[in-house]
Amino acid sequence: MSIRELARRPVRNLEPYRAAAQVDDTIRLNANEAAWRNNGDTFRRALNRYPEVRPSRLRQLLADHYGCDPANLLVTRGSSEAIDLLMRVFCESGRDNVVTTAPTFSMYEHYAVVQGAELRQVETAPSEDFRVDPARVLDACDEATKMVILCSPNNPTGTHVPTAVVTEILERRAGRSIVVVDEAYIEFAPSQSVVELVDRYDNLVVLRTLSKALAFAGARCGSVIAQPELIDMANAVQAPYALATPVIECVENALEADGLARAEGGIAETVRERERMRARLSEYTWVDKVWPSAANFLLVKVDDAARIMAHCATHQVLLRHFGGALADCLRITIGSAADNDRLLDALSTLEAGND
Ligand SMILES: Cc1ncc(COP(=O)(O)O)c(C=O)c1O
Repeated sequence: MSIRELARRPVRNLEPYRAAAQVDDTIRLNANEAAWRNNGDTFRRALNRYPEVRPSRLRQLLADHYGCDPANLLVTRGSSEAIDLLMRVFCESGRDNVVTTAPTFSMYEHYAVVQGAELRQVETAPSEDFRVDPARVLDACDEATKMVILCSPNNPTGTHVPTAVVTEILERRAGRSIVVVDEAYIEFAPSQSVVELVDRYDNLVVLRTLSKALAFAGARCGSVIAQPELIDMANAVQAPYALATPVIECVENALEADGLARAEGGIAETVRERERMRARLSEYTWVDKVWPSAANFLLVKVDDAARIMAHCATHQVLLRHFGGALADCLRITIGSAADNDRLLDALSTLEAGND
């Protein structure tokens, strides 16, 4: 099956929204916009005008940054929006299913539920460092599996999915499922992105975001990277003018050389701090395990997660706790060196039994 045939029927040949023409040096009386600029409109592109339906320069800059052609990239409001768009393009409510691993990022389940798709979760084992077994993922798939989602590095375990695992699943699901590789944290991993495989596999979709490594979570900017046929369908489903003018301008600035150099420094510092924190946390008697992480957080198994969370909260340090299979674990985001020292100070009083 072609990628177009895998999509939901109403989306296969859906025309994108046709916006009013935007031509420089013309009097624009074609979009019901205001003719004047309001207070606070200090942007290069006036806010009384709609932004471009799709931000072309930003798309080019992101494509250059990720090493793909602009025709392979759709700019989204964070990768969260990308997950939602893909569900809506490919999953028929009440019929199709999505296969992913567990534990993983909860938004996959959220958007599958919203779209009415069944979510099948293939458990990964803490005792195997949450390794993804491609045979088990493939076993969970059937003729109604439209999407396999691999989160690499995985949130909340920090596990990187090796490229050989991704390609095995891509090849075995060719013509049957798209394979979404969510690389929200890839910049913190020692390994490469799979973006370069997009030309080779028409069922590969890579999700990238500026929220983590570029320190731009507040800007809401992500990318879907795939072959143009898939990008065109996602483009037709996405709301027009999805990216706001202030966001476009801020992100264009962040993608200039000095913004990227700043991000590189931030990534290096995060990776150094992650390894320092991993060593320090491992020393506590109440820590059973700190898993290796390829992301900007650590998953830590402890003797009493609720007690430690509460203790840290009294020291104004917030950690993340999940239920289910991770009930005895905490996810700790790597902060600045000073933030991390604050956490260690709080934890040392716990160690001494002072809480
Ligand atoms: C694995 C993963 N994917 C996607 C996202 C969403 O990122 P964005 O801010 O780009 O929507 C997150 C956010 O935490 C995440 O952990």
